Amino acid sequence: MTDNSKPSENQMWGGRFSQGPSAIMEEINASIDIDRRLWREDIAGSKAHADMLCAVGVISDADNTAIQKGLDDVAGEIERGEFAYSKALEDIHMNIEARLKELIGEPAGRLHTARSRNDQVATDFRLWTRTACEDAGAGLRGLCKALAQRAGENADAVMPGFTHLQTAQPVTFGHHLLAYAEMFTRDASRFDDAVKRMNECPLGAAALAGTSFPIDRENTAKALGFHRPCANSLDAVSARDFAMEAMAAAAIAATHLSRLGEELVIWTSAQFNFVRLSDAFSTGSSIMPQKRNPDAAELVRAKVGRIVGSLNSLLIVMKGLPMAYAKDMQEDKATTFQCFDDLALALAAMTGMIEDLTVNRDALKAAAGGGYSTATDLADWLVRTLNMPFRDAHHVTGAVVALAEKKGAALDELSLQDLQGVEPRITDDVFSVLSVEASVSSRTSFGGTAPENVKREAARMLKLSETDNKDRLHKLGTRIKGLLS
Ligand code: ARG
Repeated sequence: MTDNSKPSENQMWGGRFSQGPSAIMEEINASIDIDRRLWREDIAGSKAHADMLCAVGVISDADNTAIQKGLDDVAGEIERGEFAYSKALEDIHMNIEARLKELIGEPAGRLHTARSRNDQVATDFRLWTRTACEDAGAGLRGLCKALAQRAGENADAVMPGFTHLQTAQPVTFGHHLLAYAEMFTRDASRFDDAVKRMNECPLGAAALAGTSFPIDRENTAKALGFHRPCANSLDAVSARDFAMEAMAAAAIAATHLSRLGEELVIWTSAQFNFVRLSDAFSTGSSIMPQKRNPDAAELVRAKVGRIVGSLNSLLIVMKGLPMAYAKDMQEDKATTFQCFDDLALALAAMTGMIEDLTVNRDALKAAAGGGYSTATDLADWLVRTLNMPFRDAHHVTGAVVALAEKKGAALDELSLQDLQGVEPRITDDVFSVLSVEASVSSRTSFGGTAPENVKREAARMLKLSETDNKDRLHKLGTRIKGLLS
């Protein structure tokens, strides 16, 4: 039997935890390395709480003044990198309060009246997640702007449209990019929706039951930019669905980023050669000098794994937890932070690649004509001009494609005689629809790929993506810089 009272002799943890079981307890219990990122939210929450306590007469003006000044000083220390974080103080909430006590003495002890760390952390984390959602929305709209700009430039660049990754019908490159802009616009609106739902303030729910002090929860909710206080104190301290919903929105956006990442990987391959990424977004191989690898696109494609993993982690942490707060919930932050860091970086990288890429119009056009991509145009011509039922036209077109295949020719390279050999009523007019340009130009139905549609839609998307987004993008820029350092 191992003697656990002599920790250094324990083979399991004796080496790493020389101070014995209490060191292990501290290691598993402390969250400061993670939740120190909540310092701004924690200080904002405490300032609002103290102001409210003062307004309702629970603390004096003098105490509140000392608390406000002390919290500003703590914020200054953290900002300047002078704050000494302590693991023994577990988390950001106790670290800040302890420092406040050192700075201002007795009034610091009054700050925690009518609140608990349970409503405090729920409030801080909601505030953080709300900002993360706003940043994600701004980043998505920034990406939509880049897509809309490139779509406008390439409204008439014909490329093959695919189904099953088999050439189907010609489309334009601009149309293809705008399909993604539509997805990312929906993603941004999912974050807007999530923010609306999460925007209720837990502060004042205290440990779980509310408080006997005459607090004004409308006051703190308003001061922190929430629409209203959470209506049920148990729900207020134990709900984490705001973070789940935010990460669900992130996970969906990440699937869209991953799809576009995959397109870039395909398009930049030597076989496709549809687009080129500059050196800024490509890497070389250490052994094969000819290689230009689209690493950033591949990593954006992969980020979805981590982001869905973060969502999955919180779903499982929360599953089966009884009311109200449980320490399990402390595990909510690491994955949520990681999720939004990953998303911010993936958005920045994708936006950078879209702005960076050079479109190889000749390769696009050459590929657009391959695979008998205008076969549907031929069938439509037969329907329109010869009044043929579509099913018959489909059959005739199949025979024409088979002939072209036998001759090794494109559809518009067949002679009129060839065509009339299959269907005698075909006239010279058919050649007006067999080119890829004619094909895309004819797709003028709403939402179709005709260049005139794409130009109009690119302009609409550009306007939509810019509306209200400048300030938000600026804030996001600061956040991404933070990730780089
Ligand atoms: N660090 C904790 C968390 O993130 C704060 C809440 C602690 N509450 C408690 N009753 N121990 O969840």
